[in-house]
Amino acid sequence: MSASASFDFAPLLPAGLPAPAAKWTGLAKYSFVGGNNDPEQVPVDGLIEAVNSVLNREGKSLATYGLASGPQGYLPLREFLAAKLRRDAGISCKADDIMIVSGSLQALDLVNHTLLASGDTVIVEQETYQGSLNRLTRLGVNAIGIPLDGEGMRIDVLASTLADLKAKGIRPKYIYTIPTVQNPTGTILPESRRAAMLKLSQEYGVPIFEDDCYADLIWEGKRPPAIHAMAQNGGVIHIGSFSKSIAPALRVGFIVAPWEMLSRMLALKTDAGSGALEQMVLAEYCAPHFSTHVPKLTRGLRRKLDALMEALSEQFGTAAEFEDPKGGIFLWVKLPDNVDTLKLYQAALAAGVAINPGPEWSTNKGYAGSRLRLCFASPSEQQIREGVAVLADVCRREFGVPVRIANVERRA
Ligand SMILES: Cc1ncc(COP(=O)(O)O)c(C=O)c1O
Repeated sequence: MSASASFDFAPLLPAGLPAPAAKWTGLAKYSFVGGNNDPEQVPVDGLIEAVNSVLNREGKSLATYGLASGPQGYLPLREFLAAKLRRDAGISCKADDIMIVSGSLQALDLVNHTLLASGDTVIVEQETYQGSLNRLTRLGVNAIGIPLDGEGMRIDVLASTLADLKAKGIRPKYIYTIPTVQNPTGTILPESRRAAMLKLSQEYGVPIFEDDCYADLIWEGKRPPAIHAMAQNGGVIHIGSFSKSIAPALRVGFIVAPWEMLSRMLALKTDAGSGALEQMVLAEYCAPHFSTHVPKLTRGLRRKLDALMEALSEQFGTAAEFEDPKGGIFLWVKLPDNVDTLKLYQAALAAGVAINPGPEWSTNKGYAGSRLRLCFASPSEQQIREGVAVLADVCRREFGVPVRIANVERRA
C-alpha cells in the first residue's frame, strides 16, 4: 500500500457531509435507467463541424474566463436561446435574462440555495424527478407532493394544499413543476391548468419553479406556452437544458429569471463560468441545425417507445399498466400491487436489467411501491425487447407475475 493510500481522512471530515458515493461499476447489459439519450441520435458530424468552425474563428477567446461574454455565459448561445424560447415556448426574454449553467442540475442547486433553508416547505408533483427530491431531502426541506392525473398536477389538490398550509401559517417557497412532458409520468399540463396554477401562485405569493428540460421532445402538436410566458408578474423561474435535445454529457443548461434572482444565483455560481467549449459548440451547431435535428430525434424516440410498449404488452400482458406518454424518454409503469419494485430492482440488476424503482421518484412511497420508470432512449430496440423479456422472467420468479409470458401460460 502506498503512503498516500494509508492516510486517514476520516477524522478531518466535517459533520453533515452526504453519504459517500458508491464506485461506478459500469452500465447494466440492459439499461433502462437515468436520463440518457439515444447514442445513434447524437449529431456527431454536425458537432465536429461546429467545433472546427467556432474554434477557427474564436478559439483565442478561450484565453479569457467566460469568453469575454461575462459570467452569464457565451452570448451567441444566450441569443440562440432567447430566439428559441420566444418561438417555441412564447417566452419573451433577452440574452441578459438568461444564465448558462452546468446542466440544469446546477440550476436546481442555484435556485435552491438562493431560496431555501432547512425547515422550509416546497410543493412538488407527487411523482417527480429523483434529482430534485434528493436535493430537497439533503437540504432538510419538506416537499409536499401534489398528485397527478393524465393532465399533470391536479390543480384542485394544489388549491386545497395551499389553503391548508396558509391556515397553518406556512408559505411554501415555490411550486416546482415539470409541466411539459413530466418526469416520470410523461403528461403535459394544459394551458388552462397553467393559468390556474399561476392564479394560485399569485394569490398565495408562491413563485413557480418551471423545469422544462423535456419540452422539445413532444411527439406531435404544438406545446402549450411555458408558464413563464403566461406570467404577468415575473414570479416564474424557468430552467431548461441541452441534455435531452442534444446530449447530456455536454452539461449545458440555462436559467431564465428576473435579475433580482439571477444576480443572487450568479453570486452563488462559484465555478467562474460553465465549460466554454460546450457552449461555443452548441451555439454554432444549434443556430442552423436545432430545428431539423429535434424532429428526427423525436421520431426515433417514438419508435423506441413503441418497441417498449409492445414488448411490455407481449411479456407482461395486462400485468403492466401504462399511459402512452406525450413525449420524452420515459415510460411510467404500474405492476400488480404485490410487486415491490425496490426488490424487483435488486433482482433485475443481478440478471443484467437496470430499472428505476418508483419509490425513488415519488413523495408517496406506498403509491409508487409497485411502479417503475423505464428510459427507452438509450437501449437499442433489440435491447428493449430482450431486456423486457428478462425483466418479466425475474418478476414472475420473484412475485409470481406476470402469470403469462409471451402469451404462453407458464407452469410454476
Ligand atoms: C426533470 C429534470 N430536471 C433536471 C434534470 C437534470 O438534467 P441536466 O443537468 O442534464 O440538464 C433532469 C435529468 O434527467 C430531469 O429529468
